Amino acid sequence: MSNWKVFFALIVLYAHGTQILTQAIVFREYIGANFENVRFSDVPINPNIQVHFILSFAIDFTSGSSPKPTNGKFNVFWDADNLSPSQVLSIKRQHPNVKVGLSIGGDSVSDKSVNFTAFSIDSWVSNAVSSLTSVIKQYNLDGIDIDYEHFHATPDIFAQCIGRLVTILKNNRVISFASIAPFDDGDVQRHYLALWRSYGRVFYYVNFQFYAYDRSTTVAQFLSYFETQSANYNGGKVLVSFSTDSSGGLKPENGFFMACERLRSQRKLNGIFVWSADNSKANGFRYERQAQALLAKA
Ligand SMILES: *[C@@H]1O[C@H](CO)[C@@H](O)[C@H](O)[C@H]1NC(C)=O
Repeated sequence: MSNWKVFFALIVLYAHGTQILTQAIVFREYIGANFENVRFSDVPINPNIQVHFILSFAIDFTSGSSPKPTNGKFNVFWDADNLSPSQVLSIKRQHPNVKVGLSIGGDSVSDKSVNFTAFSIDSWVSNAVSSLTSVIKQYNLDGIDIDYEHFHATPDIFAQCIGRLVTILKNNRVISFASIAPFDDGDVQRHYLALWRSYGRVFYYVNFQFYAYDRSTTVAQFLSYFETQSANYNGGKVLVSFSTDSSGGLKPENGFFMACERLRSQRKLNGIFVWSADNSKANGFRYERQAQALLAKA
């Protein structure tokens, strides 16, 4: 090889290497569930880290006051007036480090639980692939997050439906990344651990909802929960999280960032996610700024 070729090969390798490194550190934020007129452009975006917005939620229920399950035919339930396809394109054009995904499921629809419901595995998967493919293309999205929290199906059926859906979306190059969003609850963990056992390889991030733990969570407890969940979801990038609503867990005021610094010093800090932009808007996204600055040092 000529010197020039060696030189360019090294540049390509270096660029590739830094890309992989920066992709590992991510800041993610759920947005759009509470209709607080929040827009992508309201949220601070540090240029030195990967930033993912996660539109919340697409749900396989009908809209209206008595929602019915649709067997995998997804509808958009986020604030689509403020978080539209053109706004997705625009924020991604202005910030090359931004990607946008959608989350499926969520806790509630019209104040009732979103129950994961499949009439059969094959029909659910087929409906979900076609409805989500069209939403993802319409909105120029890059990824998917799985956030069912109530189940009218066995762990095995849930695992087959979700695992096959994500595998097909990835194989079809409709999405480039996928995550799951479990929390520490017996039934929830049974469903997500079954999914992880059969299909863990198709997911990169684990958005573990650390804010579903008790409000009295200490830094030491938080770190031990992180170890437990990293062992449960072995091979995944478990992200730490806080909420800016009234839910629990270790809040920024009570030592969340101290816990992050500890993980960072142990090279275990894979990223941070926040629930949610809608709730943070009133406070001017103070803790988002702090989280992103911390990640930019990591
Ligand atoms: C989900 O199931 C629960 C009972 O398990 C029920 O009370 C609730 O209404 C259901 N949700 C919807 C949207 O129908």
